[in-house]
Amino acid sequence: MRMIVCVCQNVSDKTLCRMVREGGVRNLREARAALGVAAQCGRCAECARAVIGAELDRQARTCAATQPRPAIAAG
Ligand code: FES
Repeated sequence: MRMIVCVCQNVSDKTLCRMVREGGVRNLREARAALGVAAQCGRCAECARAVIGAELDRQARTCAATQPRPAIAAG
């Protein structure tokens, strides 16, 4: 289900997450530059921060789960 994060710019959580995954967005400042999020009334700032943080956490967990574990030396 799609949720609008920024009403002023009509930016959804899916769009914001995609910008984190594919566009290199890592914080609110970068989201503002890329999408205009929180650039007008600013009411979406906290929600946008939360969405960005959750997506970064999800990426970190996925990355940690898929990376090969280092070999343990016998001895
Ligand atoms: S709701 Fe995002 S700037 Fe107004």
